Amino acid sequence: MQVPRQCFRHRYPETDFYAEKNRDKVRNDTYKSAIEHHADKISNKVVLDLGCGTGILSVLCAKAGARKVYAVDAGTDIASQAANIVEANDLSHVIVVLSGRFEDVKIDENVDVIVSEWMGQMLLGEEMLLRVITARDRWLKPGGVILPSSGTLFMAPFTNSKRYLEQIEFWQDVAVIDMSAMIPFAEQNAFDLPNVDRIKDENLLADAQVVKHINCYSITKPELMSIEESFSMKTLKPGVVNGFAFWFDVEFTGLRQEEEQLSALDRMDSALVLCTGPSVPPTHWEQTLIYFPATIQLERGKAFTGSVTLTQPTEHKWLMDIRLMYRSNCGCVACSKQTELFSPF
Ligand SMILES: C[S@@+](CC[C@H](N)C(=O)[O-])C[C@H]1O[C@@H](n2cnc3c(N)ncnc32)[C@H](O)[C@@H]1O
Repeated sequence: MQVPRQCFRHRYPETDFYAEKNRDKVRNDTYKSAIEHHADKISNKVVLDLGCGTGILSVLCAKAGARKVYAVDAGTDIASQAANIVEANDLSHVIVVLSGRFEDVKIDENVDVIVSEWMGQMLLGEEMLLRVITARDRWLKPGGVILPSSGTLFMAPFTNSKRYLEQIEFWQDVAVIDMSAMIPFAEQNAFDLPNVDRIKDENLLADAQVVKHINCYSITKPELMSIEESFSMKTLKPGVVNGFAFWFDVEFTGLRQEEEQLSALDRMDSALVLCTGPSVPPTHWEQTLIYFPATIQLERGKAFTGSVTLTQPTEHKWLMDIRLMYRSNCGCVACSKQTELFSPF
């Protein structure tokens, strides 16, 4: 049995964190294709790799012909590893590794391209997008390129009774002892926080809904502090809803205004999209699952309606409040969770 992991763990300094990312072939291949696809915008240009980690994206940009790459990471250990990797690949004449928070490092020129792998759970986890905005407003030249250029957060109701039973129901009878008294405690521990876990397309009971589309060229910090969206989802099949699944795509179109004219779902057809949903090859992000306190029955043909609000409380900016309102057979139900956005620097 796969035990669901809780998300937003504090693990930047661990080698495992970087190993997990560098082992994610879908992630690596999409970034590589995107950088190669945009080689004309990178060749002979100055690039900022924000949160470079091992330096993988800096190396890809250097190979795409960048004149100079500033590779910045606040983790001093990983920044020195990046420097070793740059040297081992004979790219020290192109890539400058800067160890420190990018807010504090000195970069004396504006850049043509910002590349970053900033996506956390539910897209906004790790708070790296706020940093991309700061770097964009500080260093990106007019007409410069941001990779990825946009991102979209999706949600859909899911059924996963098997996992629920694995986690909870076995307490009913352990070695012929009634341990059902454990159930409320087990439920609280297993499902109180968002779960990072993998589901399949067949677990989804309704069409996915866009929660937020983010254009990296124009998004502002206040827009990220409070996101509210109402939903009315078409039911695909009847079933027991255990909660909502969230996942995201990011798009490497490189486009600015043009992409705003396309609908978020149309863009999914484009080749340069990193998808983390249940119907595509898995990534290390998996999906973020928010379990309801009580299951509800979804009927065929009826719209599933409600709203979702994601807010960062002003007094505790490192937290995200997740509030879901939905109509069920028993009327309107509210489900609130709180999770850490996890920002170590
Ligand atoms: C998700 S990792 C991406 C690593 C690498 N770019 C890759 O694709 O494998 C994000 C990185 O951003 C770094 N980071 C977070 N906040 C930062 C800040 N304020 N300034 C510089 N680096 C930061 C972290 O140390 C971490 O290595």
